[in-house]
Amino acid sequence: MIIREAMETDIDSVKDIYNQGIEDRIATLETELKDQTYMEEWFAKHMGRYKVIIADQEGEIVGWASLNPYNNRSVYNGVADLSVYISRDHRGKGIGGLLLQSIEKLAKENDFNKIVLFTFPFNQIGQGLYKKRGYREVGVFKNQGMLDGEFVDVMAMEKLL
Ligand SMILES: CC(C)(COP(=O)(O)OP(=O)(O)OC[C@H]1O[C@@H](n2cnc3c(N)ncnc32)[C@H](O)[C@@H]1OP(=O)(O)O)[C@@H](O)C(=O)NCCC(=O)NCCS
Repeated sequence: MIIREAMETDIDSVKDIYNQGIEDRIATLETELKDQTYMEEWFAKHMGRYKVIIADQEGEIVGWASLNPYNNRSVYNGVADLSVYISRDHRGKGIGGLLLQSIEKLAKENDFNKIVLFTFPFNQIGQGLYKKRGYREVGVFKNQGMLDGEFVDVMAMEKLL
């Protein structure tokens, strides 16, 4: 398994894996599948210290993670929001752990002092991964968003780097 920074040629695979996470309704409040244009714009905003990394298994991209702006106010420049998505067939095999290890190192190198993330309390593999990597539960926002017409809670977690 190679973990490396993403390149423009990886965008299509990143999109497909993201869309699987959206379809599965366990990862995000997003419900609209993303197209190439959306992902290209997203990737263009990740050229600086907000890194995107991918897990490459013998030429097949099986997962990715990104650091995202937490808040546009400059007072929060040291805080990065995290995304991590593994393709359906490769979940629960330790790839998320490898990606988090790498992205945390990159975050530190790029002067972030903290990573925050927002996750569903019912995302069991996600909870397993974040606890294993030392993320702390900050709290649960009740009825924070809607998924298919139902309110869902969202848990905030953080890790000091
Ligand atoms: C959540 C996700 C990123 C985790 O990555 P992963 O590669 O599947 O996770 P890992 O295998 O590295 O670690 C999961 C940990 O959770 C636990 N776990 C694994 N399978 C589990 C299961 N079915 N139920 C509960 N816990 C489980 C284990 O403790 C494992 O740690 P271990 O390596 O010590 O065994 C991945 O499953 C995924 O992409 N899911 C869909 C998208 C998503 O939910 N993204 C996160 C948005 S917040």
